[in-house]
Amino acid sequence: MVDNDSVPQDQPPSSTDFSAKPQSHALIIGGTGMLRETSLALATRYDLVSVIARNSNRLNDLWEEALHAGLRINPLQLDYKDEEHLATCLQDLQTQFGPVKTVVAWIKSNAEEANAIIAQHLNQQSIPVEYYDVLGSLHYKDFEVDEEEREALFARYPQVHYHQVKLGLRQDDTDDEPRWLTYEEITEGIVAAIDSREDEFLIGDSEVSYF
Ligand SMILES: NC(=O)c1ccc[n+]([C@@H]2O[C@H](COP(=O)([O-])OP(=O)(O)OC[C@H]3O[C@@H](n4cnc5c(N)ncnc54)[C@H](OP(=O)(O)O)[C@@H]3O)[C@@H](O)[C@H]2O)c1
Repeated sequence: MVDNDSVPQDQPPSSTDFSAKPQSHALIIGGTGMLRETSLALATRYDLVSVIARNSNRLNDLWEEALHAGLRINPLQLDYKDEEHLATCLQDLQTQFGPVKTVVAWIKSNAEEANAIIAQHLNQQSIPVEYYDVLGSLHYKDFEVDEEEREALFARYPQVHYHQVKLGLRQDDTDDEPRWLTYEEITEGIVAAIDSREDEFLIGDSEVSYF
């Protein structure tokens, strides 16, 4: 019998709470901040959405909201800069829930190795995976992500179909200054990018330029 009192309340529930293997499984890396609504939106389209982030309270809130809506979120509390933990976690995830069909990766540029580790693991799956790499505005400012280098990295993993999703600017009227996207627009855009399967997808009306 499970003693509920012994479960720390600020910890997200263990992923072993899900008994059945999902028919369709998505993974969102960094899905509790700007992409929180994206996590929920994808949970309406996939049987299970695994979400990676560090903060257990934010993961727990997301899990609870999904549960109340009858959706399945699998919270994975880890720091993707911890390469060993990330690799183990991906291995366990695939063993427990089967292959991932779609990945949305919102990974900070200070964790470059994370992309390679994830691609390496996904490449061993029994089915191909669509990988949507979300590039934010800081990417344009600091040129921290070399787009061609990133594409070359993923080209080494044929089971992983790489897509770039760029966060741009929205212009409501021709006379208006372009503005940042809202989180709602980002969610709609990511869902549209997944539907389109395009290699490059811009959310917004124009790219961000710092020049
Ligand atoms: N172009 C546009 O129109 C537009 C519009 C809005 C926002 N943005 C961009 O969005 C940015 C805001 O987002 P943000 O990145 O600051 O925060 P954020 O939206 O909270 O995204 C970070 C996500 O990744 C997780 N995360 C971060 N580091 C992690 C790590 N080492 N290991 C595991 N998970 C990690 C965070 O959760 P934990 O912290 O719990 O780990 C969170 O889920 C802005 O800087 C802006 O550039 C752009």
